[in-house]
Parts: sequence; structure tokens; C-alpha cells
Amino acid sequence: MHLHRYERIWLMIGGGTLVLFLSIVGVQAFAMDAHPPGSLVTVNPQTVTQEAPFNKPSLTQVGPKEYKAVMVGRMFTFQPGRMEIPVGSTVHFQITSPDVVHGFEIAGTNVNMMVVPGHINRATYTFDRPGEYLIVCNEYCGTGHQVMSGKIIVK
Ligand code: CUA
Repeated sequence: MHLHRYERIWLMIGGGTLVLFLSIVGVQAFAMDAHPPGSLVTVNPQTVTQEAPFNKPSLTQVGPKEYKAVMVGRMFTFQPGRMEIPVGSTVHFQITSPDVVHGFEIAGTNVNMMVVPGHINRATYTFDRPGEYLIVCNEYCGTGHQVMSGKIIVK
């Protein structure tokens, strides 16, 4: 098969970048132990919402301007769905799912994680600006995916 010279160069550039990027992902995953946030903690998705702390999803104050949010993401809602905190508060989120994979993104922040059945994922964020923060599910999870949202009110 005859390949034009430029075509061969293009294929080499394409193949080279593929190898380069896969190597970077490989080094991060296996040598630097990069993984999704908190995914080392496992739970039984069938019973997780009957056991503490996920049987009572809630926002609790754990210190001055410091809160813990124990959350469940399920078809098609976040529990608790509405949280109010004073401005400057730091919230430690932990979330799991009893059904399918959901997303947990707080719009306008860098909090963006997956909600995976069988895992507890965690994120911490300090809300320095007042306002209404929208929590969106950004993983397609079924027929009600587009209505799955929550709210954090910071004032
Ligand atoms: Cu939950 Cu999309």
C-alpha cells in the first residue's frame, strides 16, 4: 500500500499524540495513584440508605463556619435538596447513590464528581461568595435526569 508522505507524517503525529496521552494517563493512574475522589470507600448500595449516616441525609454544623453534608443522589433527586449556610462556610460533602450513577456538580465552583452506587465520594468547598448555587446531575441517569437538581443558598 502506498502512503503519501504527508499522510504518513499525519499518521505519525496522530499515533504519537495517542501514545503520549495514554502514557500520561497511565503514569497518573498507576504510578501517581490518581483516582476519582473518595472512591476507595465502598458501601453496599442495597442497604446504604437504611444505615447511618445515609439513612438521614442532612447538613450538620461541625465547627465555626464548617459543615458536613451527608447526601444521597438518587433517581431523580438530591437529599437534602436545599441547604442554607452563611457566607464563608466550608462544607465537606459526602455522597453516594442507591440506584445508578449520577453526577454532582455545583455550578460555578470546581466541585464536580460522580455519584457511584457502592462508593462514597467526597469533596470540600468553601463558599466565599453569597448567592444561590445550583447542584446539577451531569450524568445521564434516566428519564428524570433533567429535573435532578438541588440548591445551596449562601448568605
Ligand atoms: Cu441523576 Cu442525571
